[in-house]
Amino acid sequence: MTSLTIIRPDDWHLHLRDGAVLKAVLPWTANLYGRAIVMPNLKPPVTTVDAALAYKEQILAHLPAGSNFEPLMTCYLTDSLLPSEIKKGKETGAFTAAKLYPAGATTNSEHGVTNIKNIYPVLEMMQEVDLPLLIHGEVTDSDIDIFDREAVFIERVLTPILADFPELRVVSEHITTSAAVDFISSQSDRVGATITTHHLMINRNAIFKGGIRPHMFCLPIAKREEHRLALRRAATSGDSHFFLGTDSAPHLTHLKENDCGCAGIFNSPNTMECLAQVFEEEGALDKLEAFASLNGPRFYGVPVNSDTITLEKQPPNNIPAEVAVEGSDNGVQVFTPPEPLTWRVC
Ligand code: DOR
Ligand code: ZN
Repeated sequence: MTSLTIIRPDDWHLHLRDGAVLKAVLPWTANLYGRAIVMPNLKPPVTTVDAALAYKEQILAHLPAGSNFEPLMTCYLTDSLLPSEIKKGKETGAFTAAKLYPAGATTNSEHGVTNIKNIYPVLEMMQEVDLPLLIHGEVTDSDIDIFDREAVFIERVLTPILADFPELRVVSEHITTSAAVDFISSQSDRVGATITTHHLMINRNAIFKGGIRPHMFCLPIAKREEHRLALRRAATSGDSHFFLGTDSAPHLTHLKENDCGCAGIFNSPNTMECLAQVFEEEGALDKLEAFASLNGPRFYGVPVNSDTITLEKQPPNNIPAEVAVEGSDNGVQVFTPPEPLTWRVC
């Protein structure tokens, strides 16, 4: 196959940041994707309807001319969030979902939830008004190995949530293990999972190839090869539990190349090119549309996008190594796939 046309994709897990970084990274999403679920882990986090609406305005103000991109806003769950804010966010359409960050699990998660029981009244309300719960599924206990935190979370936290809230719709975000693939695929269709581009392309060796590679560090951290292969099978299977969430997470270069470098991989500029490569390698180009454009809308109960994009079997010629950020000496480095890319978005 040398050309592939699919319904316009959406990104169901995206970090856009704010200010100058937002301005720099937004076009890479807004020019290609129909919609994105925008993560709320700003400083300070987006915990109210007013903050979500103000953030949405800021995003819309920076949209490139002619873009019809629609940002879908989320609420950052804290120990003290009131169920009434969830209700208001659902009723006004300000919130498309709410995000659970276990406190300390990742970037800007310090205001996150310290004990899942603290948000049970909020989860009750989310179930009642049908607002999906998006989960960063890692435990934070320092005695649990970083490579085991996702599997332990499924056992200790996710399983009880699903049992205690049988109607709540849940997305396990950026899954990285075969345990998560098996768990999610055994659930009903009220449970889904996003998979990132980079977790389909790299395993944990990439973080240490020839030295320490801060631009390959994200959370959940990349796992062993067997897990990458399980993720590839899930993404390319067509199974509607699984859909694209890039987890594109820009950080200025000096904050990555640092004694304590930030977690996050910025992949918006080349995700569709990477995916075409992965799906071709798996002999599943016919399933790319399901993963990138159909399964997400189905989970969220929204129509698929009304137009298409076309990919061609040609090396891309417009992907920068770094995206410049106004007012900063540092830019944001773009994810470098392990092999040269062979597909381009026309
Ligand atoms: O690698 C990550 N970066 N994982 C997350 O969960 C958050 C994200 C960020 O905001 O930088
Ligand atoms: Zn994320």
